[in-house]
Amino acid sequence: MASTADHLSAQELETLSSKAIAAKATAYCPYSKFRVGACILTQSGEYVQGANVENASYPVGTCAERVAFGNAIVAGHREFKAIAVATDIKPAASPCGMCRQFMSEFTTPSFPIFMYDGEGNYSLTTMGELLPHSFGPKDFSH
Ligand code: THU
Repeated sequence: MASTADHLSAQELETLSSKAIAAKATAYCPYSKFRVGACILTQSGEYVQGANVENASYPVGTCAERVAFGNAIVAGHREFKAIAVATDIKPAASPCGMCRQFMSEFTTPSFPIFMYDGEGNYSLTTMGELLPHSFGPKDFSH
């Protein structure tokens, strides 16, 4: 696990975590009842939230991380400082495989991912730790 996140102030982390935790309340998860909130801090200093959105056709549902990144991308953001993901469980959940691939499109291996448990404690990891040897935009650049 990574232990520090460069370029993220204590104030930014405080805001990022409270917005990720607050975003759990916006989850649509009538099937799993497993609430997930996410918040991304953009390089320009904005916070973009997301939550999981499920569907009666179960595989169609979307995770909080992909909702948050989709929101950020369509709002015009392309550079990101960090993401926080919050669930109600302990220990904290980490992003699923599909979300790891989705997030790697828009991030670098050092991108910090703060994972909050139901008590507000976090573990810190990075994109590179979650998805080493990834396939991404660089593979189209030759
Ligand atoms: N989920 C997320 O939103 N993010 C994760 O990182 C793990 C899982 C959602 C998907 C589904 O709505 C619910 O949690 C249970 O799997």
